[in-house]
Amino acid sequence: MADFEELRSRFPLLAQKTYLNSGSYAALADSVRAAFAAYLDDRLAVGANWDVWVTKNEVVRRGLATILRADPDEVAVTTSTTAGINAIASALDFSGERDTVVTSDLEFPTNAQIWHAQEPRGARVVHMPLDADGWISPERFAAAIDERTRLVAVTHVGFRNGARLDAAAIARIAHSRGAFMLLDCYQSVGSMTVDVKALDVDFAVGGLYKYLLATAGIGFLYVRGSLVPQMLPTVSGWFAQADIGAMNIASNCPSPSARRFEAGSPPVVACYAAEAALAIIAEVGTDAIEERVRRLSGACMDQLAAIGWPAITPRDDARRGAMIAIPSRDSEGLDAALAARGIVVSHRDSNLRAAFHFYNDESDIAAFIAAMRELKEVFAQ
Ligand SMILES: Cc1ncc(COP(=O)(O)O)c(C=O)c1O
Repeated sequence: MADFEELRSRFPLLAQKTYLNSGSYAALADSVRAAFAAYLDDRLAVGANWDVWVTKNEVVRRGLATILRADPDEVAVTTSTTAGINAIASALDFSGERDTVVTSDLEFPTNAQIWHAQEPRGARVVHMPLDADGWISPERFAAAIDERTRLVAVTHVGFRNGARLDAAAIARIAHSRGAFMLLDCYQSVGSMTVDVKALDVDFAVGGLYKYLLATAGIGFLYVRGSLVPQMLPTVSGWFAQADIGAMNIASNCPSPSARRFEAGSPPVVACYAAEAALAIIAEVGTDAIEERVRRLSGACMDQLAAIGWPAITPRDDARRGAMIAIPSRDSEGLDAALAARGIVVSHRDSNLRAAFHFYNDESDIAAFIAAMRELKEVFAQ
């Protein structure tokens, strides 16, 4: 059993603030700060330390594979979620009968914009609107996915309302119609177990500055091993080659592994941070994190309902992630009023977003609920 009090003490910010903002950017751990310092120390002592840097990139690849329950050869270390989606888009052909990408209205913009960017290449993009309760049922996907569908590209947890889609069911439907399934798990990975094999998705993308505790500048792309050889990204570069050191400019020889979806120099500084951050996630374990985050966020939802200001996030544990969205007549003003009370959250559209991680505890819920009770008259819808 993890010692959550001790874990919390490794994040100095939490002694100063009620931090409910991990869905935007994680709190910084002592060990991640030390990893950034180690990079600078290496630069001062050694200068260019390429051997160590390339090794670190591989350590991060293995760390990500462990967390996603995949093989390291199925993981590309990218510079962002966006880079991973673009690499997949570049490898797909939309010129034939299968020209359609089914996405949803729950998407972070990047996972819709990139598919619209493929329209000049023949792609047709279909958006699934939300059900009245903010969710999208697998049955609705079943009605939209057909023999024209090349790819279903959806978010695991919505960044606007915290709803979690049934990724396994949607993947099953996609496969039964001969389509691929891409999951954007940035709003879930690190806050819950994301087992790409159990979900049976073909591609998964995400980044490391939210619940994976690291920094901007680094992300990942998982590609099902059996698909790697048949996918040829046209977004490429020297770090995507089978032999990085070959420096062959006469041809493109992609790596036999998912490294073929990488491009230029690895995100060296971010790899230092990622190594330390992924070690914390592995130490606590994603099952234990999921259990704690579910309990804390569920308790917060219940207490919000009790003060008469319920969240719009589905209450069913199976249909939500680590983030709660609370409607407000002035979400920006509410965000600022909470910040003035030392409570860090974020807002999108007309909703306040409060996101939980394993380093939060009941004292954070108490501080948040007390402030929300005080602010209700002015800011509730
Ligand atoms: C679900 C989701 N996908 C993608 C992104 C952005 O990813 P990146 O900046 O790594 O491309 C975010 C950022 O908030 C997100 O919430």
